[in-house]
Amino acid sequence: TPDKMPPLKGDLLVHAEGSKEGRPVRLEDLSIQLVRAWPMGKNENGEDVIRKGDPNNILALYRFPQGQLVAPTNLEATINGQVVAYSDVCTHAGCSVSDSDVNAGEMRCPCHSGQYDPKRGAVVTGGPPPRPLAQLPITQQGENLVVSGFFLTYPYPFTSKEEWESHI
Ligand code: FES
Repeated sequence: TPDKMPPLKGDLLVHAEGSKEGRPVRLEDLSIQLVRAWPMGKNENGEDVIRKGDPNNILALYRFPQGQLVAPTNLEATINGQVVAYSDVCTHAGCSVSDSDVNAGEMRCPCHSGQYDPKRGAVVTGGPPPRPLAQLPITQQGENLVVSGFFLTYPYPFTSKEEWESHI
């Protein structure tokens, strides 16, 4: 069903929590603080459907000052080399990853202290996660954010690229 489909090209990103929940994320809403979002697509009747039927569709958005996002982040898949989207699902056991409360612009998983660096492709910087968070290609449409392709690597809970690709 459309609400369980993974993020698809053309999906609009909408706020997943807070006072703007369900509303489109605008570039001005973003900073080095994590903003959680859902992809929103259409059903067969052309009506908007937020894809939150699968909790693993939750996304993490950041906007960094120019020059701070570096490899292995795929800059082609960011907006202006500043705005980046990742799966917000920890690759260790699937918890939702949060901001680090120690270092701004870093991520920490509340479950077993996995750490990721969202400026460097969400590489693992500590704890048990086996691999980076999957980066989702995005583009700008006016002030809104739109998905522009599939995850660049496979997201949790998949255990291989093949398994992920057979799901989509
Ligand atoms: Fe994130 Fe274990 S689920 S560190």
